[in-house]
Amino acid sequence: MDKKVALVTGASRGIGRQIAITLAAQGFFVIVNFNGSAQRAQEVIDTIKNQGGDGSLYQCNVSDFAETEQMMKELVKSYGHVDVLVNNAGITRDNLIMKMSEADFDAVIETNLKGCFNTIRHLTRQMLKQRSGKIINIASVSGVLGNAGQANYAASKAGIIGLTKTMARELASRGITVNAIAPGFINTEMTEVLSDSVKEAAVEQIPLKRFGETKDIAEMAAFLASDKADYITGQVIHVDGGMAM
Ligand code: NAI
Repeated sequence: MDKKVALVTGASRGIGRQIAITLAAQGFFVIVNFNGSAQRAQEVIDTIKNQGGDGSLYQCNVSDFAETEQMMKELVKSYGHVDVLVNNAGITRDNLIMKMSEADFDAVIETNLKGCFNTIRHLTRQMLKQRSGKIINIASVSGVLGNAGQANYAASKAGIIGLTKTMARELASRGITVNAIAPGFINTEMTEVLSDSVKEAAVEQIPLKRFGETKDIAEMAAFLASDKADYITGQVIHVDGGMAM
């Protein structure tokens, strides 16, 4: 594969979809990872190809250690190298702590935090061999400020920030950078389900007084994936309309 290869997890919709399309427009061969919806993932590939880019699909549940290992082995075998990893896959199971089930706590940690561990764990050997690589983890403003009703989600995203800084320190000597993006409220299917009153209360906390769009996150991911960001590692970049400052 002559082009640089980028893997985006959970890329069949929302922020991941936009990151995949933006990286493809920037010249990457993009692996669109999905777990559930092959049809929606295919739509992303079709969009990428219609815009003159290239990429392929890969089904994998990133919370599964063995499945993730298999995905990385097959991608390295097929393409020879993976240059950019964007850990975007994520879920919410919101509830106040008094009502939060053990299953909902575990599911969010396993997808959001362990999913990042799994992909990084199984790609690191290859990136070390390449002596290059860019890892971008999608955290959240909730992991920085905390958010009532999101104990599981905020803990998973704060965990991602600790993981990011540690991976940045472990891998820096081999030219691999690891950064996190902490989005604020972004218009996607994840936030669409919030009630009007919750959305209004959220807007009140945002200095720019509006939700962001998927392109706001995708542009930052594309910058961190590019050689313009070669000297940036271990950072948490806030793209949140000013919420965390
Ligand atoms: P979304 O719900 O539209 O997309 C999430 C994607 O992850 C879906 O395609 C889903 O199928 C995939 N996914 C879930 N579990 C998976 C698994 N086990 N393996 C592979 N793929 C899996 O959500 P959205 O809004 O696009 O969020 C993307 C990322 O951005 C998430 O990590 C989310 O936590 C984060 N984020 C989103 C914010 C927002 O306001 N929308 C704010 C801050 C962070």
